[in-house]
Amino acid sequence: MTIVVYSSHTGSTQKYAQTFADKVGYACYSVKDEYDRNDEIIYFGWLRGPSIVDLNLIDRKKLIAVVSVSIEKDDALFRKVKEIEKIGVPFYNLRGWIDRKKVGFFPKILFIFLAVKYKLKGLDDYTGPMYDAMLNGGSFYDESGLDPIIEFVRSR
Ligand SMILES: Cc1cc2nc3c(=O)[nH]c(=O)nc-3n(C[C@H](O)[C@H](O)[C@H](O)COP(=O)(O)O)c2cc1C
Repeated sequence: MTIVVYSSHTGSTQKYAQTFADKVGYACYSVKDEYDRNDEIIYFGWLRGPSIVDLNLIDRKKLIAVVSVSIEKDDALFRKVKEIEKIGVPFYNLRGWIDRKKVGFFPKILFIFLAVKYKLKGLDDYTGPMYDAMLNGGSFYDESGLDPIIEFVRSR
């Protein structure tokens, strides 16, 4: 059987994982849940720096696809993540949200740091909304990004 496993801090990755699982008819588990270790896994994890959180807890032999959820949408960053995480299966990227109410002090400091980075780069159609999200919260959540992943599992 194939299942969906996710790790989520503020809920966007969980929402993508659950929505995807409902659409394709797979069971969906948090990485902290008990699940059958024989099942094949589509893993959804949020991006922190160049790492996909808790991907290290997944048995690589069972992994059939990886989905990262981040704020940035940058092919160079995703190539680096793929390399660092040694991802050898299909790899998809979705954009989540910044929920400042659900994060602690240090992430809030990081968000200010990122906002300054975007401002220094110059605010445009890409960096402007991320700048606002870092300072005030904001969402880039878009379920249409699930379509290629649904296509992938249906074509297997
Ligand atoms: C500590 C921390 C570090 C983050 N680092 C990055 C990052 O390097 N690049 C990025 O695009 N998003 C980064 N984010 C944004 C998260 O990936 C984004 O908010 C994601 O939607 C969180 O998923 P969740 O709602 O499932 O927790 C970071 C968020 C936090 C809290």
